[in-house]
Amino acid sequence: MHNIAKEFNQILSNTTAMSLLSDLGRRMYFPKGIVSQEAEAGIKAKRIKATVGMATKGSDPLYLDSIYRDFKGLEASKVFPYASTAGDPELREVWKQAMIEKNPDLKGKNTSLPLVCSGLTHGISLTADLFIDAGDTVLVPDMFWGNYRLIIEERREARIETFPFYTAEKDGMNLKELDRAIARQEGEKVVLIVNFPNNPSGYSPTNAKAAELVDILTSYARKGKKILVITDDAYFGLFFEDDIYRQSLFAPLADAHENILAVKIDGATKEDFVWGFRVGFVTYGSKGLEPRQYEVLEKKTMGAVRSSISNSSRPAQSLLLKGLKSETYLQEKQQAFDLLKERYLKVKEILEAHRDDENLIPLPFNSGYFMAFTCRGDAEKLRVYLLDTYEVGTIAIQSDYLRIAFSSVDIERLEELYSILYQAAAELWS
Ligand SMILES: Cc1ncc(COP(=O)(O)O)c(C=O)c1O
Repeated sequence: MHNIAKEFNQILSNTTAMSLLSDLGRRMYFPKGIVSQEAEAGIKAKRIKATVGMATKGSDPLYLDSIYRDFKGLEASKVFPYASTAGDPELREVWKQAMIEKNPDLKGKNTSLPLVCSGLTHGISLTADLFIDAGDTVLVPDMFWGNYRLIIEERREARIETFPFYTAEKDGMNLKELDRAIARQEGEKVVLIVNFPNNPSGYSPTNAKAAELVDILTSYARKGKKILVITDDAYFGLFFEDDIYRQSLFAPLADAHENILAVKIDGATKEDFVWGFRVGFVTYGSKGLEPRQYEVLEKKTMGAVRSSISNSSRPAQSLLLKGLKSETYLQEKQQAFDLLKERYLKVKEILEAHRDDENLIPLPFNSGYFMAFTCRGDAEKLRVYLLDTYEVGTIAIQSDYLRIAFSSVDIERLEELYSILYQAAAELWS
């Protein structure tokens, strides 16, 4: 093991974070190589700087006009040079500030500074690299984003164990099953991923359910379980009903108990409608962790970034930062929210009109981009039938559920879409 990693692990000793690290996480460090020598030169090399692997002309990066032309309003230095491994320092601060505004319970709590990664997928993958070993079990409700399988089972060779997301009455999240799933875990390590608003169901917990979830985790932490909770907050903020817990579960979990390490994975992808930018963030929170220990977790994460993608897209970070600081940002975001909420309400209205339909039963949803139906027959068969007969695209989840991204259909087309869905299901199953 490298000496810097040993030093880092020493700083983390006796923390839950240390006991949760994977083998790779324990070995990970951020080298004092080119990147840190460059940073040092940035401060001290006032005369000539011949350090970084970029080309410059005067004080600007060397660039091609045909590429720069369309970056209206961004200085060349905000477009072309590498971003630092952990991301643009100002963007990290601005994102943290916004995170506290969006999650007021974080105010006054110690967390790490959000570290930029290349979208939420990358953030989840980095966290998995650092904390999940081959053979580990990762608990996920049975409504989950399919990419977790590739990351956890194929890349990390760990095992996903699901528990029912909804109660049998389908009236909300099944926390009894979560409790049972944790109780089943042998050994002290527990890894859980929560994703609200949920993909594929579009469900977010009520205030009461969120509080109960935190209580369950805290009670196991008190009994000695070391719990890693990854909050995948991809669709954060798109809450369309009143009685929904409106913060990330990261907020209460960040200081719930010393035995809980919460990792917030969020980003601009869906929150700021910039899917192709590839800007996500990784933030750590655990009761009692000191700033120098957060710094070590950041450095280990930087090592994981450096050794995989080196650093994230610079122009995307610069454009995002500019947008976040714009005077019209909040107003525009509200408008985008209103547009999606109108679609949500329209879908609810359509479903109400079909409440007696027995082929497609909607699962509870109150947030996010999606809703899902439980299908009377094979969902994949319906998906293919919809495509081939009606040229309508949907997503089948296993053979049971059909996911509809109402976020990507204009309100004027929703009646048409849903009438085709019901019609096609009736043709197959009535
Ligand atoms: C639940 C969930 N998490 C993460 C992601 C990935 O986000 P990104 O595109 O930023 O990698 C998605 C994208 O569909 C998602 O649905």
